[in-house]
Amino acid sequence: MIGTLVFVLIFLAIGLSVVLAAMRSGRKPGGNGPESPGKRRAWGLGLGVVMLVLGIGLPALVLITNSHSHASDGAGGAHLNAAETHGRALFARNCSTCHTLGGSAAVGRVGPNLDTLNGGNVPQALVLNAIAKGRAQGNGQMPAGLLYGDDAKDVAAYVARVSGR
Ligand code: HEC
Repeated sequence: MIGTLVFVLIFLAIGLSVVLAAMRSGRKPGGNGPESPGKRRAWGLGLGVVMLVLGIGLPALVLITNSHSHASDGAGGAHLNAAETHGRALFARNCSTCHTLGGSAAVGRVGPNLDTLNGGNVPQALVLNAIAKGRAQGNGQMPAGLLYGDDAKDVAAYVARVSGR
């Protein structure tokens, strides 16, 4: 957000200075006299500064704004907190073989599709319960106790956050 603002401001500044310079050079007294060497040197200097800004400043700025990690970005623009990011990693290892979940690009078909289960609204408590007790309601088997404690909670938070997205 701030990066974008800085970007726009820099471009505004460059644009303004170019316009101002153009206006000033258009106001030559007398008109067609040859430009003084001093003026030409000033122009060269200005051009150098602009090139520096464009050549170093902008790439540096892009690097800085891009250094914001996208590792915590979930599907559909969902921003994951630390626990949910951890849960995503755990889901990939422990759940994705059996379940479909778009946020993890998981396409398992042993268990129900977690994007469409309950209309894409999968509460954390249901996931926790499924992990703790397992499931064997006649549509295949999910072993109990795949994860425990915080791991189970983090996966549940993650699934609840991204399911249906
Ligand atoms: C070995 C395959 C397998 C693995 C691994 C697995 N599941 Fe399941 N899961 C299933 C099956 C099969 C069902 C449905 C069983 C039934 O309803 O009879 C299920 C059901 C569910 C349900 C729905 C429960 C309900 O009551 O509707 C949730 C939520 C769920 N799993 C989450 C997870 C999570 C989170 C993980 C990873 C920690 C995981 N599963 C790992 C096979 C698996």
